[in-house]
Amino acid sequence: MRAKIVAGNWKMNNDLAMTQSLITELKKQSQTSNAEVMIAPSFTNLWPAFEALKNHKIEVVAQNMHQKASGAYTGEVSAEMLKSIGVNTVILGHSERREYFDETNALLAEKVDAALKNGMRVIFCFGEVLDDRKSGWAESVVKTQLKESLFHLDKSAFENIILAYEPVWAIGTGETATPEQAQEIHKHVRNVLTEKYDDELAESVSILYGGSVKPGNAKEIFSKPDVDGGLIGGASLNASDFYAIVNAI
Ligand code: PGA
Repeated sequence: MRAKIVAGNWKMNNDLAMTQSLITELKKQSQTSNAEVMIAPSFTNLWPAFEALKNHKIEVVAQNMHQKASGAYTGEVSAEMLKSIGVNTVILGHSERREYFDETNALLAEKVDAALKNGMRVIFCFGEVLDDRKSGWAESVVKTQLKESLFHLDKSAFENIILAYEPVWAIGTGETATPEQAQEIHKHVRNVLTEKYDDELAESVSILYGGSVKPGNAKEIFSKPDVDGGLIGGASLNASDFYAIVNAI
């Protein structure tokens, strides 16, 4: 059975006080759930979030990391540093990192390797921009992203890979992919994984959907057979919206 996961990507939101109060709210809302629940605060709030969630099932994950272990890389944070405070999962390849910080498929391959080498899990994001979708290239763009960043890995490495399909045109725009569009790409990704590896691998990897998931549309999206949860931006900043989404699994 594939893991069901709902992860909140807080992006560059919430200072320390807001982080603490959102976590207090999240703890009130949380109840037993089938899904693994994660939140990704900013780097400065990872440790306070970790402390606030001690003995709690919500996992604290990072939004990014550098590919090198240490050195003269001003302003960067390594996998080793994340691990040293207990962070075991990192989001890589988010479209905002690709767009605003020029992260390429090749760079992301290095980041994935660094995370896996440190025993971390990776939530690997991929997805097409609007022009690609309009031109009918969504499937090939997605395949290239996976191929160039992940397909150098052994099959066994995928135990620590979670995929997140995030069509760029649906992120923060209020425009969601229809459940059918999400299902179509998720199924395509499993086919691509079967082609490269095998069926067993393709069926075992969790694939999350991200892009304007809200309490009102989560259930329908999550009901699709190849959608194993969500990566949630805007709606993860409100505890009751976030838990409404978690409970839609
Ligand atoms: P959104 O963001 O839910 O605000 O569209 C999703 C994401 O960027 O992961």
